[in-house]
Amino acid sequence: MTTGIKTAVLNGVYTLEIARPDKKNALTGEMYVALAQGLRAAGTDPKVRSVMITGQPGIFTSGNDLEDFMTRSGPVEDSPVVLFMHALVDCEKPVVAAVTGAAIGIGTTLLLHCDFVYVSDEARLAMPFVSLGLVPEFAASLLFAQQAGPRRAAEKLLLGDPFTGADAVEYGIANAVLPPSEVVLHARRVAERFNALPPAAVRESKKLMRRAEGSAVRQAIAAENEVFAARLTSPEAKEAFAAFFEKRRPDFGGFE
Ligand code: COA
Repeated sequence: MTTGIKTAVLNGVYTLEIARPDKKNALTGEMYVALAQGLRAAGTDPKVRSVMITGQPGIFTSGNDLEDFMTRSGPVEDSPVVLFMHALVDCEKPVVAAVTGAAIGIGTTLLLHCDFVYVSDEARLAMPFVSLGLVPEFAASLLFAQQAGPRRAAEKLLLGDPFTGADAVEYGIANAVLPPSEVVLHARRVAERFNALPPAAVRESKKLMRRAEGSAVRQAIAAENEVFAARLTSPEAKEAFAAFFEKRRPDFGGFE
């Protein structure tokens, strides 16, 4: 176990459990590295037929650790978050997300790359990048509009409006919404179905299903990361991060 990420292989399912509840499962560089390593290990282990990503009761993840945002260089090449993004995009085995609670920032954008998404009916999802002085990441600027439509993308990415698991199903970014006590069990049952299916046919099918959008996704990630890294040190982002830790509303009144 690496700090904040628990891994386990059980009955053909490689589970990645985000486990840093005291900080609402905020993701640090170390945690991204552990997630990336887990995804790569799942990909090469012949006993593994699928991957499940889950969180803790009431919280999937509050997104990137905001303290890390203030002190690290951001999503530059080979940084932990970029390693994670590429590991998830490259994962040839089916990935099932069990969204146990709030999914903020990359907690929502990572779902756009999973094959199955099950959401607790108490979960709130949000991509408040703009409110933080930032821009969308993990190809959300492309995939959210593709999957949910450009009008909803404007609401969720430009205004940062939160939405529910039921909304996520309606938008086409989740398969089903479930009671909190059932979401992980249900996701696991779906993941375990791959034990009865021919693994090479599954892998080849997933590859084909992603073929058309593959290079566009990579280009979107690269373009977003360049802007995102620059935005991290902007006065707007600094004001937003300071406001979060000072538990106050940010004041963007003086910015132009
Ligand atoms: N990075 C770093 N620390 C975080 C964090 C994050 N993304 N999210 C939560 N925490 C910390 C809080 O600072 C707090 O720490 P403290 O106990 O030392 O004060 C602790 O986790 C609990 O968070 P709190 O905000 O009190 O919990 P809550 O239940 O009231 O709200 C959230 C939960 C997830 C809605 C809220 O924490 C939140 O909005 N987090 C930031 C989300 C965000 O903007 N992520 C980045 C997206 S790009």
